[in-house]
Amino acid sequence: MSAYQFPEGFEWGTATASYQIEGGWNAGGKGESIWDRFCHTPGHIHDDSVGDTACDFYHRYGEDIGILKELGIKVYRLSISWPRIFPEGTGAVNKEGIDFYRNVLQRLHDNGIKSAVTMYHWDLPQKLQDRGGWANREIADWFRAYVKVLYERLGDLVDTWITLNEPICTSMAGYWYGEHAPGYHDYSMALQASHHLLLAHGAAVEEYRKTGLKADIGITLNMNMSYPFDPKNRADIEAAKRNQEHSNNLFGDPIFLGKYPEELFAYLEKRGAVLPDIRQGDIEIISQKLDFFGLNTYFTDHVKADESRWPLGALSLKTGRPHTDADWEVNPEGMYDLLKWIHGRYKPQKLIITENGAACNDWVNLEGKVSDPNRIDYIHRYLIQVHKAIGEGVPVKGYYVWCFCDNFEWAWGLSRRFGMVHVDYATQKRTPKESAYWYSKVIRDNGF
Ligand code: FCB
Repeated sequence: MSAYQFPEGFEWGTATASYQIEGGWNAGGKGESIWDRFCHTPGHIHDDSVGDTACDFYHRYGEDIGILKELGIKVYRLSISWPRIFPEGTGAVNKEGIDFYRNVLQRLHDNGIKSAVTMYHWDLPQKLQDRGGWANREIADWFRAYVKVLYERLGDLVDTWITLNEPICTSMAGYWYGEHAPGYHDYSMALQASHHLLLAHGAAVEEYRKTGLKADIGITLNMNMSYPFDPKNRADIEAAKRNQEHSNNLFGDPIFLGKYPEELFAYLEKRGAVLPDIRQGDIEIISQKLDFFGLNTYFTDHVKADESRWPLGALSLKTGRPHTDADWEVNPEGMYDLLKWIHGRYKPQKLIITENGAACNDWVNLEGKVSDPNRIDYIHRYLIQVHKAIGEGVPVKGYYVWCFCDNFEWAWGLSRRFGMVHVDYATQKRTPKESAYWYSKVIRDNGF
């Protein structure tokens, strides 16, 4: 018996995403994605790297699944690259793309590892971006057609379906602050894109329920607690509330409560943002019942009121806590508060932490090993809070470490290492870090 024992059957997992690990950017009939285009256009990526090869999972998935098996990972979360299935976004299916994912899923299955498949983790076909991408309402139909093919051709091999990963990043980072593909700077467009993401999510759930497949389906939302920077300052309290409504409720409320956050919308309108065009019937599509709530969380926000910040009037500041190499502050109690908050507000029957983890400045030492005590400490501390929340009735059924291996970290390129397995990008050599062995033992003991 360990001091922190998790419920029987707890789903210990680890996560990745197609663009970040696959490489093979134009192999096997794959079409161009918005991330291919974004990275190939100079000036977007911190270290000027591109994801063309990344971890070459496209060719090395056998080796990687071998490592997963050795570590005793129960669930592997991966995403499907839409342009690998539909090179043109719509129209003809690329059989080679289907075969690739069937091979991966079959291999996982043969090794006794469950799969959690994200249908959209940010790599939109460029051809669809050329037609407006997420700003075009038609995208809900394009997504519907795409997921139907996934259900038909991969459905027998998938254990858990996730419609979208962190849709607020797709809309806000992609269309408002432009750090992610397609790199726009238009807040109102980002709000409209958010609505279309929600519609696409709803369309995917609607189609899924028609298939008769038995696996669970849910969505992965990233959320954070926002605390007032000065808890005695009224303006900070209000700014923190707005900030949290924006980062959490904007997607959480329509899906789980069937309504948009009204106060937030009124504030945004007053500040001159154009609210999304929401049509009759949209909310019903968006708010269909899900089998679980997927949560990604890494940090907390500490918010100061600042009128000059448009449109939210809120500025997130550092508090002096330790931070990871991604510059995200470590605040495990924030995870506990967040789990309680989600449980209280949305009451999901099941919650899975689909991402949590730390970037560290790791390298292979003279003995050929990678020592990453800070990552172990981070995961350890966050898991203690997960355990506490479970003890108080929050139905957390799984926890997936981000990430299985070092990978292409979006705008940060290859300069941020989140993996439990080190990847030497020049040789593609994999070296499990100490955290991988530590996590493996946690899984074996079902606690620590
Ligand atoms: C999340 C993303 C994931 C990865 C981690 C560090 O926002 O979903 O792809 O980049 O952050």
